[in-house]
Amino acid sequence: MPRYAYVNGSYIQHENAGVHIEDRGFQFADSVYEVIANINGKLADECGHLDRLERSLSELSIDMPVRRNNLQFIIREVIRKNRMPNANIYIQVTRGVAKRDFPFPTNYVPSTLVITARPFQFDNNAKVKKGATAITVPDIRWKRRDIKTTGLLAQVLAKQEAIEAGAYDAWMVDANGYVTEGSASNAWIVTKDGHLVTRHATSSILRGVTRTALAKLCEDLGIILEERAFTVQEAYDATEAFSTGAVALIVPIIQLDGHKIGTGEPGPVAQKLYNAYRAYAKDGAGLNWKADLQNEFA
Ligand code: PDD
Repeated sequence: MPRYAYVNGSYIQHENAGVHIEDRGFQFADSVYEVIANINGKLADECGHLDRLERSLSELSIDMPVRRNNLQFIIREVIRKNRMPNANIYIQVTRGVAKRDFPFPTNYVPSTLVITARPFQFDNNAKVKKGATAITVPDIRWKRRDIKTTGLLAQVLAKQEAIEAGAYDAWMVDANGYVTEGSASNAWIVTKDGHLVTRHATSSILRGVTRTALAKLCEDLGIILEERAFTVQEAYDATEAFSTGAVALIVPIIQLDGHKIGTGEPGPVAQKLYNAYRAYAKDGAGLNWKADLQNEFA
């Protein structure tokens, strides 16, 4: 069965889909994106992802390419045409096509919209069950990490370094020795006194939609959450560590820089949160993410 992508108004066979060579997304990474998990036919936290997409676009003064309800329709068409009840849905919006010049185009240029779907087996993810290893690397990114831009070269290099070191992921570390986040995920640890810790969401990290949902679920589960920066040493000493994001949801990190974390096996807090998130995502649930976001950045 052919795979389909959506590009600027058309559903095109994936292998033939493309954008113009002078698209500003291609030339300047002048573009933002979202990844939404479609789990058993339900889009997990769709509202949170679309809220964040709108926020990223507005921070960069890029127009929403279509109205939100049209975007929701197109996403569903991409899923339907690809027949993928379990998939990661990728949405990218760029500032559009214009002669290469650094300032924004002065004439009207429509934003580019690309949507693709990639199959993903949420029920059969070995990383979630067995855990994975990670290394730490310096965080060399720009200062607006709260914007989900496709300017991802630092993360590409971090991930590549991890792979070359025989690890699955890289956790990035700021100049003061505090973990910021994973190369494409938020980073969490469980301290010896059982508190869950993840970095406070300012512009130094991406405010993960999965992270926001899990923070709320912690309240229901009676897990004490501390939103603060933690050091690499604290991570080594943790009883559990894990990464969260829309692609794989929760991946336990069982070894960091060669240090065994806790028992060296996926831990109970990660498992509890994973189960809670799966149950929460069953009906395509979504929090009022925008309200939280406004509070956070107020
Ligand atoms: N990445 N931090 C970074 C740097 C990320 O790239 C991501 C997601 C997250 C988690 O955000 P969320 O829970 O909203 O997915 C945190 C996506 C999935 C990616 O680049 O593929």
